Amino acid sequence: MQIFGVDIGGSGIKGAPVDVDRGELSDPRHKVLTPHPATPDAVADCVREVVAHFDWSGPVGVTFPGVVSGGGTIRSAANVDKGWIDVGARALLSERLGGAPVTVLNDADAAGVAEMRFGAGHGRGGTVIMLTLGTGIGSAVFTEGRLVPNTELGHLELHGHEAEKRASTKVRDDEQLTWEHWAHRVQKYLAHLEMLFSPELFIIGGGVSRKAHKFLPLIEGIRAEVAPAELLNNAGIVGAAMAASREP
Ligand code: BGC
Repeated sequence: MQIFGVDIGGSGIKGAPVDVDRGELSDPRHKVLTPHPATPDAVADCVREVVAHFDWSGPVGVTFPGVVSGGGTIRSAANVDKGWIDVGARALLSERLGGAPVTVLNDADAAGVAEMRFGAGHGRGGTVIMLTLGTGIGSAVFTEGRLVPNTELGHLELHGHEAEKRASTKVRDDEQLTWEHWAHRVQKYLAHLEMLFSPELFIIGGGVSRKAHKFLPLIEGIRAEVAPAELLNNAGIVGAAMAASREP
């Protein structure tokens, strides 16, 4: 079955039709730059542009970088325009896509759902924590394969700082940290999460998962396995489409 997936990120809005039985994009993804400010109206126009690029009609799954209620209403917006808060994103996007059925979920939750089915978390029980390191830090927590939605572990405070203000890839770029320095921050964050959750596996995703060989070997002293995401930066698109395929 094919379903369209869109990933709304801090720097780009990207999407493609997805073969949800195989967890693969059916066509190369199309990306537009995230508008600034990333208001609901401006982002909705970008989503329409991405979907229209493929001449798609049918269900669309969309990720959002904030808390999303079960009904598709946005409840937080740390790295996008605050005008999103309390917006019914599902209704807004459906209207902008000519009435197409739309499912909206948190971006890290979508990436986690895809990794658990088709990637590094496949077949894994116990507690698994997926982290997306990007503009912010997103989290998806699974226990025996079931998602606990809308965990916001990127906002955990560590030594007086929000984790995502210390260990996101944006911070690595902004502060021009070496891989060693940044890996040390990620390691401290993982150690803290391990103390709180005792997971069996951490899956590290986000754009930087492409460069996992540069920093994962520098992370030491974590009891849990630490594995790079396998779907790389397509996990959000695939997970969004999977979520939409599960709607009644
Ligand atoms: C948001 C999360 C999101 C993460 C990654 C955080 O700032 O609060 O909801 O998953 O960024 O985009």
